[in-house]
Amino acid sequence: MSNRPIGIFDSGIGGTSIFKEIHELLPYEDIIYLADSANAPYGNKSEEEILKLSIKNTELLINKDCKLIVVACNTATTNAINYLRKNYDIPFIGIEPAIKPASLNSISKSIGILATKGTLSSALFHKTSDLYAKDVTIIERIGEGLVPLIEAGKLNSDETRELLKEFITPMIKANIDYLVLGCTHYPYLIPQLKELLPEHVKIIDSGLAVARQTQAILKEKQLLNIGNNPPEICFFTNGNTEVLNTIINHQFSVRYLNF
Ligand code: SIN
Repeated sequence: MSNRPIGIFDSGIGGTSIFKEIHELLPYEDIIYLADSANAPYGNKSEEEILKLSIKNTELLINKDCKLIVVACNTATTNAINYLRKNYDIPFIGIEPAIKPASLNSISKSIGILATKGTLSSALFHKTSDLYAKDVTIIERIGEGLVPLIEAGKLNSDETRELLKEFITPMIKANIDYLVLGCTHYPYLIPQLKELLPEHVKIIDSGLAVARQTQAILKEKQLLNIGNNPPEICFFTNGNTEVLNTIINHQFSVRYLNF
């Protein structure tokens, strides 16, 4: 067993959607969350830049004695996780778009995926699609502009709704029955997406699967915290503390850190 913290990082506040699932499943684990909002969005950066930022976040979490790191950002996972796994001696959990369950369960054989440019152009994304979605048509859309709006707390703005409408309309026309959210920021837009999509279209994100995988790896490596003390949970951001506080309902400690 280990009472060292789990580390989570994201390009900003989106990974809090993953944090919530992990905290619910593993309520006694200490968690340190890094929101690299000053560098958001990662989605349009080069592979080299994404790797550099991922290394910076990883080293900060390792210096804070984390026992496992969740890369709670699809773009960082697809571009940097192989390097991180090879070069650091702790387990890493990544986020991959839920293409497999969507493809297997689709009846119309048409699914939509909304993700960043960095995710959709990555080798890992293409490998997953080739492996699991051969008999399915995938309608891909880059969610250009969504991450900055979410980072600015503008979930309910007209601008956000207009962008979503633009991205989703071709998917509806292509008769999708599943929409895969390939960016950890996007689950915060589920209410707005539901207003636009026909009722039968299911929206899937990777949060619960990632939490289960985190639990399984901690168990396998004998790193679970088997105590039942209230956990220490700390959020660090190099961006706007108020936006982060709002998204986690002012429930945990949020500190500004220049990293
Ligand atoms: C971004 O920073 O562009 C989005 C993060 C993600 O891909 O989950």
